[in-house]
Amino acid sequence: MEASRRTALYVCSVLFILTATNLEVSSKLIHIPSLVRHGTEGDPLLLSAEIHFSLDEAEIQGTWSHTKPSGTRITLVTFTNTTAITDMMYRNHLLFKQHNVSLLILKLNQDNEGDYHLSLNIKFHNRKGRVIKEERTIHVTVDVPVSTPLIEKSPSYPLVEDKANVTWTCSVERGTRVVFQWLRDAAVLTPSKRYHFSQDNSTLVISPVTKEDKGTYRCVASNAVTPGRNSSGVELNVYYGPYNLEVNSGQGLRTGEVFTINPGELVFFECRADSNPPNSYVWIKSHNKTEVISEGPRLEVQLYRLAQAEEYLCRAFNNVTQKQDETQFTLVVASLGTGKEKHTQNEGSMSPLAAIIVCSLFIIGCMLLVFLRRTCHPKRVIMSIYNKPFSEQKRPHRSGHEDATEDFGIYEFVSVAGKMESTQASCRSLARLELGQDMHTTIYDVIRHVPESPSQSLLT
Ligand SMILES: *[C@@H]1O[C@H](CO)[C@@H](O)[C@H](O)[C@H]1NC(C)=O
Ligand SMILES: *[C@@H]1O[C@H](CO)[C@@H](O)[C@H](O)[C@H]1NC(C)=O
Ligand SMILES: *[C@@H]1O[C@H](CO)[C@@H](O)[C@H](O)[C@H]1NC(C)=O
Ligand SMILES: *[C@@H]1O[C@H](CO)[C@@H](O)[C@H](O)[C@H]1NC(C)=O
Ligand SMILES: *[C@@H]1O[C@H](CO)[C@@H](O)[C@H](O)[C@H]1NC(C)=O
Ligand SMILES: *[C@@H]1O[C@H](CO)[C@@H](O)[C@H](O)[C@H]1NC(C)=O
Ligand SMILES: *[C@@H]1O[C@H](CO)[C@@H](O)[C@H](O)[C@H]1NC(C)=O
Repeated sequence: MEASRRTALYVCSVLFILTATNLEVSSKLIHIPSLVRHGTEGDPLLLSAEIHFSLDEAEIQGTWSHTKPSGTRITLVTFTNTTAITDMMYRNHLLFKQHNVSLLILKLNQDNEGDYHLSLNIKFHNRKGRVIKEERTIHVTVDVPVSTPLIEKSPSYPLVEDKANVTWTCSVERGTRVVFQWLRDAAVLTPSKRYHFSQDNSTLVISPVTKEDKGTYRCVASNAVTPGRNSSGVELNVYYGPYNLEVNSGQGLRTGEVFTINPGELVFFECRADSNPPNSYVWIKSHNKTEVISEGPRLEVQLYRLAQAEEYLCRAFNNVTQKQDETQFTLVVASLGTGKEKHTQNEGSMSPLAAIIVCSLFIIGCMLLVFLRRTCHPKRVIMSIYNKPFSEQKRPHRSGHEDATEDFGIYEFVSVAGKMESTQASCRSLARLELGQDMHTTIYDVIRHVPESPSQSLLT
């Protein structure tokens, strides 16, 4: 009731002022740069006000008062344009700036928190009798800066995945209204199924820990007057695995779980799994599960008998998590050909005989190809009959028939059963057209119907 009546009154007075003078809007007479101030304990704090009129042309009267969070209200300073009376209790604690009605608190303490209220009556000399009232409130908080936070981990020893919980605690020696944040490797941690934060975020419980929780943890403490201080980083080590066990080899040919190797070739196999601490590895021949043939991540195998097949197994064991994993694979001995032999045995040097054979075959192939192309190209055959110089230049394809003077002749469409190369097919069929029982050929004769012009005459 009281509030609404005051609002109504205020609205009425504003309306009155607005209608009485359209020269000035009351809010422009006084300006407070910041209505919320975060002060640091022990520091001074200036509650600034700017007055946008000349004190010479007006008479002023006002107060600064303080409302504590508890609700008690005290008038600190009462002033006019010439005098200021500061409450005797606060005389050594406050300084009033007459020329711009700002208030300086010399040394902030927790008791200075609350709302500071400036109330100002202004009466301009040139406007008879009218008093303008201005009121502003500044909210002030006082905080103690945050000291460097300390991070603690419990328990301090490394933990086994899925079997243990870890509790992180962040504490500060000094600081009020401290806000805590947790980082793992610079990523901010948020509540989740396994991450539980205390009410004020000062503790973080990870329950249970997993492989993903490994990393460097840090807490950041901040408040209104401290931007954020990092604790030192503390490592969380988690024992886990083995995961993603696999066997690999740089040699041999792999198809799924089967490795094919050359007879007599020395082949290395590597077994690897993700694990903390590192696994111990054993290699076992599958037909006798108790017989360990080798220990450690590497296995050396040399088999001689062709078509021999052996089953092997790599077993990884983490002696802290007490978990193990194993993977089986088959080794088959077969001749993989020169490619692999070249790689493993005589690097880069082919036998001279093989080289000669390959080269001769290549040359013969090329010659055959060239010969067949020359003799069997249907267009070429027809062209040679007409004794016309054949242009090898490729003309850009055109859509119309305007420049098709060179395209007439006999065209042949051949369809052949089986997978035969097209050049082969056309050559063959042209060479022995009469023998083409398996082939379906159609011969198209493209006849020139272009009116002859002297320059383009071909048949003369
Ligand atoms: C008010 O005056 C004081 C000096 O007396 C000055 O430091 C302060 O900046 C002034 N405030 C504004 C808002 O101009
Ligand atoms: C303060 O107000 C009085 C009364 O209106 C006026 O006579 C005087 O000139 C003003 N003083 C200043 C410094 O503006
Ligand atoms: C981990 O915390 C869960 C509850 O979140 C509890 O049930 C479990 O017993 C704790 N484990 C250990 C090893 O303290
Ligand atoms: C706090 O740690 C984060 C992440 O490591 C880093 O980005 C930031 O610069 C650090 N801040 C300070 C004040 O050391
Ligand atoms: C605690 O941290 C979470 C996320 O990091 C945040 O959303 C929440 O506001 C924080 N609570 C407090 C009391 O600081
Ligand atoms: C498996 O190997 C062990 C140790 O070499 C041997 O004692 C055992 O007789 C073998 N078992 C079979 C079924 O071959
Ligand atoms: C676990 O295995 C590592 C080697 O992989 C060895 O150094 C360590 O002593 C073993 N720890 C236990 C508890 O057996």
